[in-house]
Formats: sequence, C-alpha cells, structure tokens
Amino acid sequence: MNYEKLPVVESIRQSPPLDFEGTVDDTWVKDKTILITGGASGFGAGFCKRWAARGATIIIGDINVPGGEKLIAETRMETGNANLHFVPCNVTDWMSQVEFFKAAVKLSPHGGIDTVVANAGIAKSDPSFENPQDLDTANPPPPDMSVLNVNLTGVVYTTHLAVFYLKRNPGSSPANPKCKPADIQRDRHLLLISSCAGLMPIPGQAFYGASKHAVVGLYRNLRATSFVHGIRVNMLAPYFIDTPMVPTRLKVMLAGGHIGKAEDVIEAATRFTADPRIAGRAAVVGPKLRVKQDAKGDWDLAKTPQDGEEKAIWEVYPDDFEDSDLFQR
Ligand SMILES: NC(=O)c1ccc[n+]([C@@H]2O[C@H](COP(=O)([O-])OP(=O)(O)OC[C@H]3O[C@@H](n4cnc5c(N)ncnc54)[C@H](O)[C@@H]3O)[C@@H](O)[C@H]2O)c1
Repeated sequence: MNYEKLPVVESIRQSPPLDFEGTVDDTWVKDKTILITGGASGFGAGFCKRWAARGATIIIGDINVPGGEKLIAETRMETGNANLHFVPCNVTDWMSQVEFFKAAVKLSPHGGIDTVVANAGIAKSDPSFENPQDLDTANPPPPDMSVLNVNLTGVVYTTHLAVFYLKRNPGSSPANPKCKPADIQRDRHLLLISSCAGLMPIPGQAFYGASKHAVVGLYRNLRATSFVHGIRVNMLAPYFIDTPMVPTRLKVMLAGGHIGKAEDVIEAATRFTADPRIAGRAAVVGPKLRVKQDAKGDWDLAKTPQDGEEKAIWEVYPDDFEDSDLFQR
C-alpha cells in the first residue's frame, strides 16, 4: 500500500502502518474512561491493572462477580486509584449490556466513555457438531451455541453500544490520525479482541474459529465506515497466550516457547489505547521470537541467538492468510 499516493488517512481516517519497536508511552490514558467487558480475568484484568496505574477510570463488566469485585478491590489498594469499578454484566444479554454502559457513563468523572474494549470471550469445543450422533433420530438436538452467543452476539451488542456512546462522549471530536495527542483530552476508541483463530483455522474449534473470524469481519467493515461517527477501531488477534482460558493440558503441550505472555497483549492494547492517532490497525500477538529482517523488509527466524531481535507483536496484513494456512498444514 502506497500511503504517499493514496489518500487512505484522509479518506477513511486509517493510520499508516505501525512501529511496534520500544516500550509504549502510556501516559495519555490518564483521566480516560475505559470500559472492559470480561474484565475480571486474563487480558481484561491485565488491561485494568495497567491503565489503572496510569490514572484511568476503569469500569469492568463480567459474569464473574466475586472475581471482578476482588480485582477492583486489589487494584484500588495497589494503585491508590479510586475510579475503578465493577458492574455485573452478561454480554449475551442486551439489557445487561445496556445497564452496564449506563452505569459506566454515571461513574465516569467526565460523563462519557473514551475507550471500549470488547474483550469477553469463551472457548469450548463441541465434538458433536461435526459428528452428530443423533442425526438419525426424529429430533436431532441443536448445536451448543454458547461460544457464538458470547464471542459474536456479545461483541455485536458491545459494538452497537460503543458506537452509540463513543460519539456522544462529551468534549470529544472525531478521531483523526493526524491529531496531536497533547492537544486532545477525549477519545472515541473501540478495541476489538479477535484471535489468531480469526485469521487461521484451529481444527476442532469450529465455533470459536467462526466467532473470531466474524470479529475480523466486523473490524474490517467498521474500520471502513466508523470514521463517519469519528470512531477509531483497532483489533488484537492473540495467539495462544497464558491466561485462565487456555486449559492446563494445552499449556503443557505448548510449553517451551510456544505460548505467549499476557504482558505482550497488554502492551499492544496499550499502544492502541494510549495513542489517539492509531485507527484501523490490527496486531497479532504471540510468543516472543528471535527474528531478522532482510533487505526487502521480510522477516525470518534468526539463525543464531545473537542475531536479529525479539518480537512478540506483529501487524496483520491480508497476505498473512496464505502463511497461516501453510502453518496449519
Ligand atoms: N488466552 C488466549 O490464548 C487468547 C487468544 C486469543 C484470543 N483470546 C481472547 O481474549 C479475550 C479474553 O480472554 P482471556 O484469555 O483473558 O480469558 P479469560 O477466561 O481469562 O477471561 C475471559 C473473561 O470473560 C468473562 N466472560 C465469559 N463469558 C462472559 C459473559 N457472558 N459476559 C461477561 N463476561 C463473560 C469471563 O468470566 C472472564 O472473566 C477473549 O475474547 C478470548 O477469546 C484469548
């Protein structure tokens, strides 16, 4: 893509490719109001702790009430930040999400929401789906729709409410990749959490893969149109990352450098959240690999431990689909 010749930034307010080098400057999240679905555990809890430490107002919504309340109590103690709140929320229930967003606006010191992270998700395989034992009976049972309900319907509800509230964020102006962060106080940011399972198949996880592919579709559509509402939309697609979602037997299988760390996902999410110039970009986050770039700009694994650099966060490009299919084979 030639960003010099095509007016991508001006026409759809999409940023040019990102530079993930170095540590992100997260100071801009101070005084932002950030709403996180599924914030009681894993990535959501990590986002909460990182941004709370920088002075953001965080409102997490989750079905895990004891976990959410404990996280907020602990994080208040650790950071001294009183603007941290838990609101019970089941993302599959429209009215539950409406009440969550309404509560967030009430709890927000400036009466608006700057960033919404559509993070809640579950993983579960349904072995009967591709091999339904009961098809020969008169009444075959329906498939288990819970993964699609949480990971797709839930994300669609969150997105719908995010677009409604973000553009009404008092004092915000339309997101603009050419803005100067120091000059603006309020944001309109939606961060979608897909997965590598949204870019490549994970055999045996048809519903999870379908739901995460759907989130990629949502992201690609929204980034082309959400500028109408001045909303910047970004997406993360983590590989297997060490959180409670990954079962122990899989963690054992992936041991030895094949599972990523939540801290890199939090770093990538912070880069998107702490920089209002980033719009319409997506990153894959995986285990740190030692890699080297050739003269053409292509990356390959480094030959020796002294060679190249360590990288866990990568931008997503359409030609990555071929590579990922080959990887699965
Ligand atoms: N860990 C990984 O390897 C990985 C990889 C790629 C993508 N992801 C995605 O990242 C997101 C966060 O996952 P995680 O690894 O932190 O998992 P996690 O299990 O630690 O956290 C998920 C949270 O979502 C909450 N949740 C589940 N159903 C809900 C519902 N109906 N309403 C509200 N909250 C609900 C859970 O209670 C939990 O607190 C998910 O969307 C997941 O699909 C995870």
